[in-house]
Amino acid sequence: TEQSLPVAILVPGQFNDHAIGRIDRTFRQVKIERADPSLVTDDIRRTVRGIASFGGINAALIDALPNLEIIANFGVGYDSVDARHAAQRGIMVTNTPDVLTEEVADTALGLLINTIRELPRAETWLRDGSWVREGNYPLSRLTLRGRTIGIFGMGRIGLAIARRLEAFGLSSIAYHNRRRVEGLSYDYHPTLKGLASAVDTLISVAPGGASTEKAVNAEILEALGPNGVFINIGRGSTVDEAALAAALANKTIAAAGLDVFADEPNVPQPLLDAPNMSLLPHVGSASEHTRSAMADLCVDNLVSWFSQGRALTPVPE
Ligand code: DGY
Repeated sequence: TEQSLPVAILVPGQFNDHAIGRIDRTFRQVKIERADPSLVTDDIRRTVRGIASFGGINAALIDALPNLEIIANFGVGYDSVDARHAAQRGIMVTNTPDVLTEEVADTALGLLINTIRELPRAETWLRDGSWVREGNYPLSRLTLRGRTIGIFGMGRIGLAIARRLEAFGLSSIAYHNRRRVEGLSYDYHPTLKGLASAVDTLISVAPGGASTEKAVNAEILEALGPNGVFINIGRGSTVDEAALAAALANKTIAAAGLDVFADEPNVPQPLLDAPNMSLLPHVGSASEHTRSAMADLCVDNLVSWFSQGRALTPVPE
């Protein structure tokens, strides 16, 4: 049985069912349609001390809640929470690291292989009856064999991807990160351009935010070369999507696979039209198992904060 805490928690917009159930049993849950300060009533303003959400928490919403103590973000990435403003107001922000690492790394490998071996196209071909009519499936142009891999964002997920790639027999792995990761033998490149010039396959796990905005641009894609493959499992905002669509159309690179987009759930038409493009609707962590674990960690942060005065997984400073 869960303890009951007499605290109002605001849940703006759509949210995970498992998390909603737990918040309902533990707290007084207050729902509003979306994270919009104009929807904050007097009662919400007076009583709400915590937020649980998929993100989208800006300074105006934070300032509409004078008694707010904690924002529990569902997801490891918290670029859509104004964490700096929260910190200035002394408000705790938590995220859900670790519990999704292996799932997202699995999805990254799936997307990489789908992109390179065109497996979704092969399935469509089977279902269309082409196998019966035409015989063998036309060979895929690309292979994973012999690829040199660059990982943009060597955190927990980047490392889990690198370990999987080693198990696939790919030993040429390098990375770019804000800073070198201690104790890691992979080649470190202090610039993304340096990394892109040294590899033919770039996997982005980089977080969103101002410092990575459109970091993967035309110049970076060109540096990958005509055999180049770009995979994004991090945040769509890190890519110049128009430049990516053009790079595929012009065969500047060979293929790309995206799980994330700059303006989700909208996928720009040039990306939908681009040749050799594999697209997924942000499903990196989207198994019932992992989303429940994320929901539990999100709510456990609220429970720990309001019962013991400490958060379990505060976002880094
Ligand atoms: C995350 O955890 O940041 C994923 O993108 C899921 O939202």
